[in-house]
Amino acid sequence: MLEKERTDDTYTVYYHLRAPHGLINDPNGLIYYRNQYHVFFQWNPEGTTHENKTWGHAVSDDLINWDFLEPALEPTDWFDKNGCYSGSAFEKDGKLYLFYTGNVRNADGDRESYQCLAVSEDGVRFEKKGPLFEHPKMYTAHLRDPKIWKEGETYWMVLGAQREDLKGTALVYRSTDILNWTFEGEIMDALPDFGYMWECPDVLKLENKDIFVFSPQGLEPEGVLYQNIFQTGYMLGHFQEGVFLPDNDEFIEMDRGFEFYAPQSFTDNQNRTIVFGWMGTMPPEEEAAVPTIKDGWIHHLSLPREIKLISNKLVQQPVEEVKMLRLKSSEILEYISQIDKIRFNTPEQEIECVWTEEPASFAWTLRDEVAVSYEAAENKLTVERTNWLTSKRETRSVYLDEPLTSLRLFLEDSAMELYVNAGREVFSLRYFNEQRTDFWEWQNDDWKEYVSQLTVHEL
Ligand code: FRU
Repeated sequence: MLEKERTDDTYTVYYHLRAPHGLINDPNGLIYYRNQYHVFFQWNPEGTTHENKTWGHAVSDDLINWDFLEPALEPTDWFDKNGCYSGSAFEKDGKLYLFYTGNVRNADGDRESYQCLAVSEDGVRFEKKGPLFEHPKMYTAHLRDPKIWKEGETYWMVLGAQREDLKGTALVYRSTDILNWTFEGEIMDALPDFGYMWECPDVLKLENKDIFVFSPQGLEPEGVLYQNIFQTGYMLGHFQEGVFLPDNDEFIEMDRGFEFYAPQSFTDNQNRTIVFGWMGTMPPEEEAAVPTIKDGWIHHLSLPREIKLISNKLVQQPVEEVKMLRLKSSEILEYISQIDKIRFNTPEQEIECVWTEEPASFAWTLRDEVAVSYEAAENKLTVERTNWLTSKRETRSVYLDEPLTSLRLFLEDSAMELYVNAGREVFSLRYFNEQRTDFWEWQNDDWKEYVSQLTVHEL
């Protein structure tokens, strides 16, 4: 069970992993090492702006209760003096290897990037080994976020990059000993023209498919797609000899909400593929207006999600351990037939709703703030919130590939994750509304008839 010590902070989160103070962004170096889960993360311990990036470090036995250790990497060397940027972890011969990007502003104020290594014997103290290689010439200094994996006897690294013509791409490196790396080329032969920079690339294997996940910057909105400042999505295909051969040109967004970015995957001791994402990517003006800044912290990670490939679709579900958060569960289907709203006892809830074969349209409002609605004729699910900077209502939607069958909704005081149809779609978002209540209300009662199970868990 999670130890919940209530603080006076408004809008705090208890079960999403946040830093004790300062700014958190990407999850880094995710690994199960020496019987513990290690989550490193981009962290500015000194303030709530994007500076002083260190690798914060948290460990857990169960993915629910986290202990914070000393930062693993701090920007103290010539090759990382303006930030120890994102990267990944790998275990070899009992040692923990961290690969990260050293971000440097040189004397002229120009950017330099170095792909660096740090090694640890115990998973607590890390010794920096410095830059690993020089970059090829045809790219700008936007080269970052090394992700390592091993196939057979080969270590592979994929690196986010920007070509000199200012197009985003990812580079592939190969190694046989994890220390010496050779440049293989760009990850895709036929490179789609897709944004100006690809951040946090990741290649993972599920069900004999390879999945290339990346976070492109600079996509234009298209209908309900690409509505956020930056997007995260994946392509399916096969990674062969350093090249990703996509099945088609489809880039599928991993999350349909407002805040989910730079996810990273790892495989744990139970052979589960788990991802964490960062629930904080937003335009700089919105970020500067986030009200938690006055309490000295900003942003958090998503829940740990187990991912599977089912019928060529990435399906995400909170890891099983998340059920440990449940304090009290109530089956309320009978009860809601007589009422038109419910009041929650605490801000942290999980709501599970299962529909029969014919879901009806509905519109719910949670906390007087987030609206979740479904238009049955189009299989369209929409989430709406108030933008805390502009006070305008804004929406994100998805057209489901089949009618709605289930929703599993995780609420905190300022965060929500909504898992749709057993994780075939997910919406993640923050909300900061002054007048919020603890009510769950609905506009009409028709939808209740089509629900076959409705459970509320207090978390
Ligand atoms: C993604 C990102 C990475 C970079 C890190 C810096 O959010 O921009 O590309 O390594 O954050 O904090």
